[in-house]
Amino acid sequence: MVTRIGLVGCGTVGTGLIEMLDRKRDFLRERHNFDFSLVFVSDAIKGTVFSKTGLDTAEILKEIAARGGMFESRYAGNGPDKLEGLLREARPDIVCEAAPTDYKTGEPGMTILSSALKAGASAVTSSKGAIGLNMAGLKKLAIENGVHLRFESSVLSGTPLINLVRGPLAGCSLSKAEGIVNGTTNYMLTRMEAGLGYDEALEEAQRLGYAEADPTGDVEGFDAAVKVCIMSAEFFGVELRVDEVRRTGITGVTAADVANAAKSGRRIKLIAGASREGGSAAAYVEPRAVDLANPLASVSGATNAVSIVTDNLGEITISGPGAGKKETAQGILSDMIDIVSMRYQSG
Ligand code: HSE
Repeated sequence: MVTRIGLVGCGTVGTGLIEMLDRKRDFLRERHNFDFSLVFVSDAIKGTVFSKTGLDTAEILKEIAARGGMFESRYAGNGPDKLEGLLREARPDIVCEAAPTDYKTGEPGMTILSSALKAGASAVTSSKGAIGLNMAGLKKLAIENGVHLRFESSVLSGTPLINLVRGPLAGCSLSKAEGIVNGTTNYMLTRMEAGLGYDEALEEAQRLGYAEADPTGDVEGFDAAVKVCIMSAEFFGVELRVDEVRRTGITGVTAADVANAAKSGRRIKLIAGASREGGSAAAYVEPRAVDLANPLASVSGATNAVSIVTDNLGEITISGPGAGKKETAQGILSDMIDIVSMRYQSG
């Protein structure tokens, strides 16, 4: 069976996903029985392309590389350009959402994900706003419509933390999750220790595709705070509002602070976490000078790490890429493969 995929949001992550689908088409079919047809790509800046029978992924990538958009593609303008129309005409099995995220409203993800689920498509997202703000509502919508909602890439990009807890760790109760969950700030702090200034370090993180379209969310700790909300909801069943997370970003951290910490055998890290306390959770994001003997001190660059405390297995730590183009696309891809394999299992 061919899986019909629609993609909304074609920035760093969306383009990374098309590249991965293009490069791995044969491997995905042979290894995972995952045969796909990309039926639309829609982006607020780059335009919309649509084909009922499937877009030529190589051609779309060439078009984006050459012109920075898809307006002149042979697939542009020959179908609907609004999401409702695309869902109706293209009938995707899965909608991938990778649009820039607004941490306060969860938009445009909230609208995109709800529309997809209501139209009977499963939804996979890498953006954090909507999931962080209303995971329960979106999950309910998925169940009501008999489809799936997955969001592996929303925390630690493709490093499988979310699916580790929901899959192999099923049956464990979690009481704490803590670590480094923002790639941009961890990269910046690492580079500042190597002698770069704050602005230079931020520019590098942006150039490497780690930062959000508006990096304020990264440096002020909103991105990490929303990820903490996602972990709390998914791991403890406790939904927190972002403003319930005690939050300090790294905007007040200077190159001198980083250097002074290094002189005293410590390293500044933006630590984010949540602990379950009965039916609620205490949650925080804050820069901390950790001792070099602390395992989190050696998590450098855009690498992230989270330790979770479970009843059945004690503490488990997972570390891996926390941001990046192909790293985030990988999480979306693995969610899609999982959804499709479930479809096979249930006939
Ligand atoms: N801007 C985010 C980060 C992207 O730096 O962690 C991955 O969520």
